[in-house]
Amino acid sequence: MQTLLLSAREPGTPALAAELIKRGELVAIPTETVYGLGANGLDEAAVAKIFEAKGRPQDNPLILHICGPEQIELFCHHIPQKAYDLARTYWPGPLTMVLPARDSVPRRTTAGLDTVAVRCPDNAVTREIIRLSGVPIAAPSANLSGKPSTTTAEHVLHDHDGRIAAVVDGGPCRVGVESTIVDLTEDRPRLLRPGGITPEQLIAVLGDLVVDKAVTAQIDKDAVVKAPGMKYRHYAPAEPVVIVSGSREKAAAYIHRHFVPGDRVLCFQEELPLYEGCAPLAYGREADVNTLSAGLFAALRELDDPSIHQVYARCPVGGGVAYAVQNRLKKAAAFHIVDAEAEV
Ligand code: TXA
Ligand code: MG
Repeated sequence: MQTLLLSAREPGTPALAAELIKRGELVAIPTETVYGLGANGLDEAAVAKIFEAKGRPQDNPLILHICGPEQIELFCHHIPQKAYDLARTYWPGPLTMVLPARDSVPRRTTAGLDTVAVRCPDNAVTREIIRLSGVPIAAPSANLSGKPSTTTAEHVLHDHDGRIAAVVDGGPCRVGVESTIVDLTEDRPRLLRPGGITPEQLIAVLGDLVVDKAVTAQIDKDAVVKAPGMKYRHYAPAEPVVIVSGSREKAAAYIHRHFVPGDRVLCFQEELPLYEGCAPLAYGREADVNTLSAGLFAALRELDDPSIHQVYARCPVGGGVAYAVQNRLKKAAAFHIVDAEAEV
């Protein structure tokens, strides 16, 4: 199969992409978070192709992408008022809500769950593709399962060229980490995955938020969890990653003490001069966390090289979007963190 590369700027692209979706094909779509591997979310055979192309575990459900809050009711029921409040405040945007699923949603899409994740992405071309296709688009991040997510059309082609019908190229993703996921099916709203909409922003609307344990710790692969996707090893380059926490100076001293040829350093741009001779790669500026979230996955992909022995990574501190960056980096590192301040 030849994979079409369609520019989001071409006026004919939404209609062509929508036609492919209607025919049951896989089309990678740009969003503000990461590129998604899209298919008709109501077509079991099309959804099965997503799992096959990604090598995705069968028990990991997909997000339905819709073009506006008015579509929630088509696929969900028992929708609490707070879902509408969140949609009004943060959609279109990097927020996914888990709600009770209607029977119209195939259990292939929800991986057998009675709940479904819905999100309205902040990309006008992608919303137009959804509207023209007339169906919700099921789309996981377009990376091969376990690998860092795709934030450019080139990343998608790297993983899927020749195996999917088309990629819509909308340029690099603005947010760069996947959407925030909040589960609204229980008494208290639960954060299943941090992202571009911060915990602080959720609490401003919901007044309450429980953080699921899968956000902060490694979950056993056989565990029964609210967010099936969170228990798998994620975002991982080929080699081990270790996060080195602590001040700039102490971290640099630690890394220089342990560095051997074949290792790499993933750091902030401000730190590059500290790591001369240590093959440093900067993923953004510490002073602007949005550059870190936007650059993280491209950097992890660049470091996905079997000839690399080990990666020492620097991680931003604090809340807001930094919380999402910490979550992704900790998962890439399988929660392996050393404290440079503690080392004598
Ligand atoms: O930003 C994003 O959300 C991107 C773009 C493409 O929209 N999509 C994305 O999809 O990150 P994916 O499949 O890589 O991650 C979806 C996560 C998984 O961890 C999955 O387990 C969880 O959402 N999920 C989906 N449906 C769920 C449900 N009904 N209950 C709990 N978790 C669910
Ligand atoms: Mg993913």
